[in-house]
Amino acid sequence: MRFYISDLSKYVGEKIELKGWVYNLRSSGKIKFLQLRDGTGICQCVFVKGECNQESFDTKFETLTQESTVRVTGTVRADGRKPGVFEVGADDIEVMSIAEPYPISPKEHGTDFLMNHRHLWLRSKRQHAILRVRAEIIAAIRDFFDGRGFTLTDAPIFTPSACEGTSTLFETKYFDEKAFLSQSGQLYMEATAAALGKVYCFGPTFRAEKSKTRRHLIEFWMVEPEVAFNDIYDNMELAEQFVEYVVQRTIKNRAEELAAIDASSDPTEHKVAPRIQALQNIKAPFPRIHYDEAAHIIKKENPDFVIGDDFGAPDETIISSKHDRPVFVHHYPAAVKAFYMKEDPKEPGKSMSCDLLATEGYGEIIGGGQREDNLDILKRKIHEHQLKESDFGWFMDLRRYGTFQHAGFGLGIERTVSWICGLPHIRETIPFPRLYGRHYP
Ligand code: 4AD
Ligand code: MG
Repeated sequence: MRFYISDLSKYVGEKIELKGWVYNLRSSGKIKFLQLRDGTGICQCVFVKGECNQESFDTKFETLTQESTVRVTGTVRADGRKPGVFEVGADDIEVMSIAEPYPISPKEHGTDFLMNHRHLWLRSKRQHAILRVRAEIIAAIRDFFDGRGFTLTDAPIFTPSACEGTSTLFETKYFDEKAFLSQSGQLYMEATAAALGKVYCFGPTFRAEKSKTRRHLIEFWMVEPEVAFNDIYDNMELAEQFVEYVVQRTIKNRAEELAAIDASSDPTEHKVAPRIQALQNIKAPFPRIHYDEAAHIIKKENPDFVIGDDFGAPDETIISSKHDRPVFVHHYPAAVKAFYMKEDPKEPGKSMSCDLLATEGYGEIIGGGQREDNLDILKRKIHEHQLKESDFGWFMDLRRYGTFQHAGFGLGIERTVSWICGLPHIRETIPFPRLYGRHYP
């Protein structure tokens, strides 16, 4: 039988065995403490002279180094001072491997150093907590769509053409032909939506963006729902219910991790971590602001902003700082959006697009909208965007054979993790980030 630290409360008074890595060591005369890490948690193993194996106490314990692998046997008991915390009164220890001097110490390391040691950095408490939050967010996303009649229809990664503009395309080879890494699964979701009605894809996407901002990854994960017969307003309703569900479930199930990440939170001072408090407001409906209105608000605070342009990160912050929950901005100028966006017949020049801006300047977490469903207009857009009509033959077929109103969106997982965790940079939100200038380890 295998025992895990996360389950210790079930075994109080019982003899168990734990396998893991040495997180920390401390001795004071007749008593020695080993903080053991097994991936599910950290627990204190207490070795008392005369109460545990003599050789283990005198010799084996002394050989241990941080991150050495060990097997500890002992009895589970409640930690007298900390309610809900359990420790092991150790009988014996077996050393499985002595680790070389560990490069990551509790002292501050530079970002480059930590990024070069990402494979080891992941073992630290904060990174552990962030990855647990990420996994919860992903599970919540899947449950939301699976529980609402959506069918998962994943899109290919090798694609013949651009979806989100040619400037960020990653070119690669497909045997003797040119191919591109997918920027978005959306176009394929439009096809599967015609087959299955409500669909989504969830996978890695790629943007060859030479930008080193705290929001940009070269490889990021995106979930993209697409719904037949939805319009832009249905789309915003789906998106806000979705974001509310993901946030509320994550703060409920991962409160401990969120508090651990929130360095500023002092458990004695706050009953609820400030991060969780801030996210409790994230309930639908979210405000909806027309692009024209948003542009005027931005212009007042940033005179350099040109009405008609896309928003930069500081412009998004101007809008989001005025609200305690995420905000939709809709009807961006068609000129700043992708070729597939439907132009609003009631507002020429404006696209039926809707982006969701997260709170506190975390920026756009969702991009989406209603799709162009008219074949002739779509053809014109393809030309206007200097794309090759021949690349989109199959996509235009969707407008030839039973064209249909439809809408969808894409939510970036890492930006969402960054926002929910309250992180200063996106690089910690994915196990092995791909950034401009870095694809190691
Ligand atoms: O706004 P984007 O480019 O929209 C699309 O790709 C649509 N085809 C989605 C759809 O309608 N199905 O990207 C969607 C989201 C952004 O809001 C952001 O959260 C994330 O993907 N994103 C990035 N995340 C990290 N690094 C990048 N370089 C990102 N680019 C976009
Ligand atoms: Mg976008």
